[in-house]
Amino acid sequence: MNVNPFGKPTVKIKRRKNPMGEYAHLSTPELLEAVKKSAHSPHRADLDMLLSVFLERYDARQKELDTLNKELEERIAQEVRAAKANHKRYEQQAKMAAMGEMMDAVAHQWKQPLNAISMMSDILVSDFSSGIVDEAYIEELSQDTQAQIEHMVTTLSEFRNFFRPKETRESFGIKRSLSSVLILINDEFIKNNINIHIESDKEVLIYGIENEFKHLVLNILNNAKDAFNEREIKERDIFINFEQANECIKLQIRDNAGGIPTSVIDRIFQPEVTTKTNGQGTGIGLYMSTQIANKLGGELSVKNVQNGAAFTLKVPL
Ligand SMILES: Nc1ncnc2c1ncn2[C@@H]1O[C@H](COP(=O)(O)OP(=O)(O)O)[C@@H](O)[C@H]1O
Ligand SMILES: [Mg+2]
Repeated sequence: MNVNPFGKPTVKIKRRKNPMGEYAHLSTPELLEAVKKSAHSPHRADLDMLLSVFLERYDARQKELDTLNKELEERIAQEVRAAKANHKRYEQQAKMAAMGEMMDAVAHQWKQPLNAISMMSDILVSDFSSGIVDEAYIEELSQDTQAQIEHMVTTLSEFRNFFRPKETRESFGIKRSLSSVLILINDEFIKNNINIHIESDKEVLIYGIENEFKHLVLNILNNAKDAFNEREIKERDIFINFEQANECIKLQIRDNAGGIPTSVIDRIFQPEVTTKTNGQGTGIGLYMSTQIANKLGGELSVKNVQNGAAFTLKVPL
C-alpha cells in the first residue's frame, strides 16, 4: 500500500488540555508519581510545569508558616505580658495578705497593754479618792505604764521594720530573725493556744533580704495556725529547728495540725491553690514563700510527717 507522505497522518497527536491545571489539582504524592511518569515519557516539558506547581505550593506553605510564626510570637509575647502582670498582682496580694495578718497580730499584741493601762488609770482614780496615792504609788504606776508602753513600741517597731521596703542583701542570723518574728506574733499564737518550740540554739548565718525571710517564716506559721483552728486540734505545737551541715543551711518548721490534704500537697506551692473557703485563703502565701526561697538561692519543700506537716528550707552554701 502506498503511503502518501503528504496525506493526512494516520496517527493522531493528542492535544492535552491544560496539563498545568490538571497537575494543580493533584495531591503531593500524586504529583510525585506524575514527576516519575513524565521523566520517562515524551512530555519532558511537563517536568517544568510540575516543578512550578511544586514551587507554588511551597511558596503558599511558606507564607502560611510565616503568618503562623508571627501569630505564635505575638501569642507568646501576650502570655509573657500576662504572666508578668500576674506576678505583680500576686506580689501585691501577698503583701496585702501579710499586712492584714500583721495588723491582726499587732492588734492582739496591743490589746493586752492597752487594757492594762486603761485599768491602771481606773484604779488610780479610785485609789486617789481613797487617799492612798502617794509618791511611791505614782512611781510604781509610772514604771508599770512604761513597761506596757515599751511592749507596744517594740511590736510597732518590729512591724515597721517588716514593712519597710528594705531590699538590701546582707548576712543575718536565723535565730535572731526568728525571735523578731515571734515578737510580732507571740500574743496572737498564745491566744490560739499554740506553743512554738525553737529547738536549735546555735546561731546560723544566712545571706539574703531578711524581711523576705521573715515573710517566708510568717507564711508557714500562719498556715499552721489556720490548720490548727480549722481542725480544732487540742494540743498545738510547732517545732522549729535550723542547722548548718554539709555545705547547706537547713530550716525546718513542723506542726501537729494534721498535715496537708493529699489532694493538694503536690500543688500547694503554685499560685492560687487554697483549700480555704469563703475568701479566707488567697493561695498566694506558699507561692510567695517559694519565690523567696529561690531568691535566697535555695528551695522550699514539704512533706507530711506523723500528725502534721513539715516544711523545709534548704539553702546550699
Ligand atoms: N501547716 C499546714 N497544715 C495543713 N495544710 C496546710 C499547711 N500549710 C499549708 N497548707 C495547705 O496549703 C494551702 C496553700 O497555702 P497558702 O499558699 O499559704 O494559701 P492560703 O493560706 O491562702 O490557703 C492551704 O490552703 C492549705 O490547704
Ligand atoms: Mg497562707
